[in-house]
Amino acid sequence: MKLTVLPDAGQAAKAAASRMAEQIRSKPNAVLGLATGGTMEPVYEAFLRHETKGLDLTQIRSFNLDEYIGLPADHPQSYHRYMQEHLFDQIGMDAGRSHIPNGLADPTLEARRYEAALLEQGPVDLQLLGLGRNGHIGFNEPGSPFSSLTRAVDLAESTRESNKRFFKEGNLPPERAITMGIATILRAQHIVLLAVGEAKAEAVARMVAGEVTEEMPASVLQGHAQVEVLLDPAAAQGLQDGPIPKPLAG
Ligand code: F6R
Repeated sequence: MKLTVLPDAGQAAKAAASRMAEQIRSKPNAVLGLATGGTMEPVYEAFLRHETKGLDLTQIRSFNLDEYIGLPADHPQSYHRYMQEHLFDQIGMDAGRSHIPNGLADPTLEARRYEAALLEQGPVDLQLLGLGRNGHIGFNEPGSPFSSLTRAVDLAESTRESNKRFFKEGNLPPERAITMGIATILRAQHIVLLAVGEAKAEAVARMVAGEVTEEMPASVLQGHAQVEVLLDPAAAQGLQDGPIPKPLAG
């Protein structure tokens, strides 16, 4: 794992955006693996503001990590809508080139279809990842098999609690999602994981220096040959020499 600590969260997001641009510059028909969530908003913002000039975006294809089960594509909190608002509308990305699981389809069949599409069009050249406070990547919660493929999953209570902030007051996120599996994610040629803020520090320390265990999904990245972890100082604060943090409760 290559670790890069940037001076602040904005610069960490900018670094992730420039990794995306470098990938597209070196391979204009690159397959990008995209993520959503609060961490990625400034990445797409920086990409649009600083990286798109002169960049040919007409041939890229993308596969998102996940989508909530039960939300229609036009729901304000669906990841379809997120991607439209934060990236796709601005770059004129059409539906034929951008893939996101369909939250309204039969989950088992949709997961199978998505995995097959990834196998056919992949591998993903550059996969962007955020990190859950409980160590999840995509929506692969603690306990997810390292051999897992795209599938329907139950979200951890802590994940629903944390993502509540994106939903209208009183509305909880759906209980289930379709997510690329851990083995699906690991097929990517390059992985860039971005984590910022103190709330991620413990998960970052366990991901980088802790035991490789299915209880800490992101720890699997220790075994991937091409992973870059981009951090701000707050997220990196658990990485000084010292004891590895105890497993997270819950
Ligand atoms: C999003 C995703 C999740 C998030 C993670 C961090 O597509 O798969 O793994 O990256 O939950 O979310 P934020 O950035 O909101 O803290």
